[in-house]
Amino acid sequence: MTMGAGSGAGIDRRALIAGLGATALAGCAGTQAQLNTPPPPPAPGALNSVPTALEISAAARSRGRRFGSAVAAGAFGTASFADRDYANLLSIAGRVVVAENEMKWQAVRPGPGQFDFAAFDRIVAGAEARSMAVRGHTLLWHRPRWMPDWVNTHDYGVRPATAAAAMLVEHIETVTRRYGTRIHSYDVVNEVVEPSDGSLVPTSMSQAMGGITDTVDLAFRTARAAAPHAELVYNDYMGWEASSATHRAGILRLLEGFRARGTPVDTLGLQSHLTATADPREIVAQQREWRAFLDAVVAMGYRLIITELDVSDEQLVADVARRDQQLADNLAGYLDVSLDYGVMGDVLTWGLVDRYSWLQSFRPRSDGLPQRCCPFDDMYRAKRMARVIADKLGAARPVVAASAT
Ligand code: XIL
Repeated sequence: MTMGAGSGAGIDRRALIAGLGATALAGCAGTQAQLNTPPPPPAPGALNSVPTALEISAAARSRGRRFGSAVAAGAFGTASFADRDYANLLSIAGRVVVAENEMKWQAVRPGPGQFDFAAFDRIVAGAEARSMAVRGHTLLWHRPRWMPDWVNTHDYGVRPATAAAAMLVEHIETVTRRYGTRIHSYDVVNEVVEPSDGSLVPTSMSQAMGGITDTVDLAFRTARAAAPHAELVYNDYMGWEASSATHRAGILRLLEGFRARGTPVDTLGLQSHLTATADPREIVAQQREWRAFLDAVVAMGYRLIITELDVSDEQLVADVARRDQQLADNLAGYLDVSLDYGVMGDVLTWGLVDRYSWLQSFRPRSDGLPQRCCPFDDMYRAKRMARVIADKLGAARPVVAASAT
């Protein structure tokens, strides 16, 4: 298995030309109607951001990694390949994408016996048209809040354990077999650990199956059998903040359990939804805790990947220049530690442009100002956050290939 090894052929000429203003890639994943509509002129900052985007890509590659981002399957004016400026930025800076929502159960499995891959297929096609790799997110989001209602209320019948196992296996086999080696890495299971007490969260499926670890282990074993080429990731949002200590402890227990039971998990996915602090001393304290956590994870033989990086500025001042600086200081501190591991693979942000970020609605600022949580602003201009990403990727510890560990 090879993972995260900057396998792209570098900055491809086509993406570069597109980034410099050509419209060749516009509407690549769009409909005929979109193709016939002349696109509006590029966003004001789109051309100015090209040098930074190129630097991010080159910096990641110089250390054996890829940079990437979440992408959606929407139309023009969303974080999607159908939005020319977004697509250009993504394909210049990045070599790997992940679907923001389109591979989740809500999207691909509208009912017990139904599958619908239309939206996710558009993302995979858009990525492949730009020679970008695709991560799979997620084969099991182990949280009732984020599963479709039909799963949460499903009647598993008279033999619930058998029926629940069959449903999970069918789901994972259907998705992984459809995409084969076109998907090199899967967030097999997402968010099993309850942050407040470190326990494991029950779901309708785990109750039917008679155990949470049985459910999660079955997901990984099924994925390994159906997609033996793929990196299998357990993905969660335990942060480096002091308030996440209990969550981190719960994650370590879960990871120990995987090893004890021989569950095939390769990698811990660090979602990396950071909350920036205005206090530099806190950053230093968090670095210490974070390093201890990652050391413990790596000591168990896991690899690492940054799967969903963004930085909430909800605790920072309104002033944009100070806010961007403080946010960048937090991210620099986080990446200094996180990228100091040779087993750290690719680095993906959860979006590239502020206005499309889920944090605008999920974590709104109390003063009503928009979050500045992504590397590029609403006019697609590179912010300090993009600078930090380029610098820290360039200074990172080189990747040690999976086969060499
Ligand atoms: C979020 C999406 O960004 C939103 O659009 C959606 O409404 C909810 O999910 N952790 C994850 C991601 O693993 O799937 C989440 O994405 C963000 C938190």
